[in-house]
Amino acid sequence: MDPISTTTAPAQHSAVSTRPKKRTFPIPSESPDSAAEIPTQFSGRSVASGSTLGGFAAGQLLRLCRVAGLAGADADTYANVLVESLGAMAERPLDLPAPSLSFLSDDHTPVEFSLSFLPGAAPTLRVLLEPGCGAGSLAENGRIGLGVIRAMARRWGFAADKLDLVQDLFFPRDPQGLLALWCALELRSGGVPRMKVYLNPGASGAEHAAETVRAALERLGYRQAFATLPAADGYPFFALDLGDWESPRVKVYLRHSNLAVPDAGGLSRMQYGPAAETVEDFVQLAAGYDDRARSGPGACSDPRLGGLPVLTCHSFTETESSLPSGFTVHIPVRDYVRHDGEAHTRAVAALAQHGMDPAPLTQSLAALTPRRLQDGAGLIAYLALAHEKGRSPRVTAYISSEAYEVRPATPPAPQAASPVL
Ligand code: TRP
Repeated sequence: MDPISTTTAPAQHSAVSTRPKKRTFPIPSESPDSAAEIPTQFSGRSVASGSTLGGFAAGQLLRLCRVAGLAGADADTYANVLVESLGAMAERPLDLPAPSLSFLSDDHTPVEFSLSFLPGAAPTLRVLLEPGCGAGSLAENGRIGLGVIRAMARRWGFAADKLDLVQDLFFPRDPQGLLALWCALELRSGGVPRMKVYLNPGASGAEHAAETVRAALERLGYRQAFATLPAADGYPFFALDLGDWESPRVKVYLRHSNLAVPDAGGLSRMQYGPAAETVEDFVQLAAGYDDRARSGPGACSDPRLGGLPVLTCHSFTETESSLPSGFTVHIPVRDYVRHDGEAHTRAVAALAQHGMDPAPLTQSLAALTPRRLQDGAGLIAYLALAHEKGRSPRVTAYISSEAYEVRPATPPAPQAASPVL
């Protein structure tokens, strides 16, 4: 079966207002340039028109680059890269449905932005995208993705040897699951991004995902690494840093369904990792449990994240120890708020708590969409807290493009306020 083109969206995403999802993959002809609000040239023609998928996303990227303090020339380069990575889908008119049921975002936009904050520095802008989003099958989606990754590696002179080592594990003849390959670009100044590739451990079936992760870690030299990982309900992603990283990471993502807040603190396997309390506080804040919900009248004795699952990411850089050198907890905040105003408030609080300036986040949301924060619950898709050996903790906000739909705000009390029985 080909999940990309034939399955319906996962039930957990049912809150997204539906419009008929057709399987249509036409390659649109040249799009009109008239609505171009930001005059930027891509391959000799302007596609920064808001009326195509590529133009819409490139416009958002250009505005976000300004917030992140990137120079105009770098911003143009990166907008170009984004458009090129989407191939023919960049020119798909926005009034057609999304190119496929991409799992990358709730409304199936194959692009998502993120801002990663450190104390005392401008945030780093990143963009996650699905190069094969227009493919008619998951296998084809993967082939297109690999082609784009290899072209980028050639362009910027990156080695892709790590990908070579594990490629066959993630690209079987008849792949299964919700993704084949995603690519994330960290948009640093100078016009050469850092690159991350996301692969699907369940490509040969979800029941083989753990074995695939173990095999991939072993091939990359992390022989005991799998055994260090905490228990999980699934392995949604396996990721590789490619390019000019100081210490390129191999990353394993774990799913934790119905996670109890007090259990979050015990999920890191880093040697000198975050204190359990630091992780629990972040989870509690992002999920909307305030102190009153934990103790005091009406307290909820068993606070759990019963909506979309928490993900943790365990990153490896040292083959000798096989212990992770990084730990990130990702909270799908959109499922624990009534609307994005709440998500924004929590993000600002988390940033302030970790000594980071929240102003660029607020500016970014305004740069992405003119809508009011109260009018949807999905602009901030995830909030994450990342610890890496020898570095300051980072807070990251993942921000949706919303090219197709706004995830509706929910009028009743947030899920997080009620204990899951
Ligand atoms: N949309 C998917 C999800 O909600 C994948 C994804 C997109 C994701 N951006 C992410 C997962 C950021 C973790 C963090 O799971």
